[in-house]
Amino acid sequence: MLRSVILAASRSSRVERLVETAPYTRDVVRRFVAGTSTADVLGVTRKLVAGGLAVTIDFLGEDTVNPDQAIATRDGYLALLAALAEAGQTPAAEVSVKLSALGQKFDEELAYECARAICAAAAEAGTTVTLDMEDHTTTDSTLDVLAKLRDEYPSTGAVLQAYLRRTESDCRELATAGSRVRLCKGAYREPESVAYQSAQDVNKSYVRCMNILMSGSGYPMLATHDPRLIAIGEDRARWFDRGADEFEFQMLYGIRPEEQARLSAEGHTVRVYLPYGTDWYGYLMRRLAERPANLMFFARALTSK
Ligand code: FDA
Repeated sequence: MLRSVILAASRSSRVERLVETAPYTRDVVRRFVAGTSTADVLGVTRKLVAGGLAVTIDFLGEDTVNPDQAIATRDGYLALLAALAEAGQTPAAEVSVKLSALGQKFDEELAYECARAICAAAAEAGTTVTLDMEDHTTTDSTLDVLAKLRDEYPSTGAVLQAYLRRTESDCRELATAGSRVRLCKGAYREPESVAYQSAQDVNKSYVRCMNILMSGSGYPMLATHDPRLIAIGEDRARWFDRGADEFEFQMLYGIRPEEQARLSAEGHTVRVYLPYGTDWYGYLMRRLAERPANLMFFARALTSK
């Protein structure tokens, strides 16, 4: 119930204005978002990489409604990749891209062309791209774009969401040599017809999908903060004899940083998903919806002096 309310608030421009203008919002946002400028994200990247972590950077922007916005997002990524290469932060830093920010909802071809330019710039910079996954109405389109991008840039990765009933089958399709798959639980509100609803069913699906990816010949990226799933991931890595360059754990910036450090100290590759940009509102609200306990933290910061 609370999760639905927060997800509804994530689409309300009135609540957005309220949050943006509240005192001390900046401190709360900074817990989950690297900042608003390329300089900000480079600074945080340097610190994380120096601490033994890898990163994937998300230039925030969603639901682009016209081609100019799509082009501006593409150009933001091109500038970011140039800055990362110049700062010597690749290949430890890669980028994550939402096709909706590149115009997917109104022009799939435009989104593909923009993503292709980003993949080309990433290859030039010595790194790669992973396509984020959004609500289930975009899954087929995103996987179609992925297939086209992989023809030219085979290391382009994709996200699959364990809460979708279709995902086991998508994992089977993508557990092939050279394929990079980021497995997460899924962050959107989805109907029962397409998605498991209970935490237990989602977790069971995550384990089935993880088994397929870890036993396959692709490169699994286990994106979760869930202690039980991480423990199962460590177990499967031992069982399938996967070393630090054969799979990785991934977590969001600001969430369980001590666990990120522990896994890294144990020799695992750990990549932190690092969002930045002025368009942080929808991202932040999804993080709050995942864990309503964060609301207390947020409310305290909003109301405190
Ligand atoms: P779960 O939500 O059960 O959390 C397990 C534990 O982790 C909690 O008990 C708590 O300790 C901690 N935790 C989790 N979320 C927290 C939070 N917000 N604040 C504080 N603690 C928290 N989704 C999607 O639909 N499309 C996508 O493309 C992506 N991409 C993506 C990339 C990466 C690298 C990650 C880690 C996640 C995503 N996600 C995503 C989000 C994902 O679907 C999911 O919503 C979150 O990761 C939360 O699920 P967990 O697996 O962490 O488990």
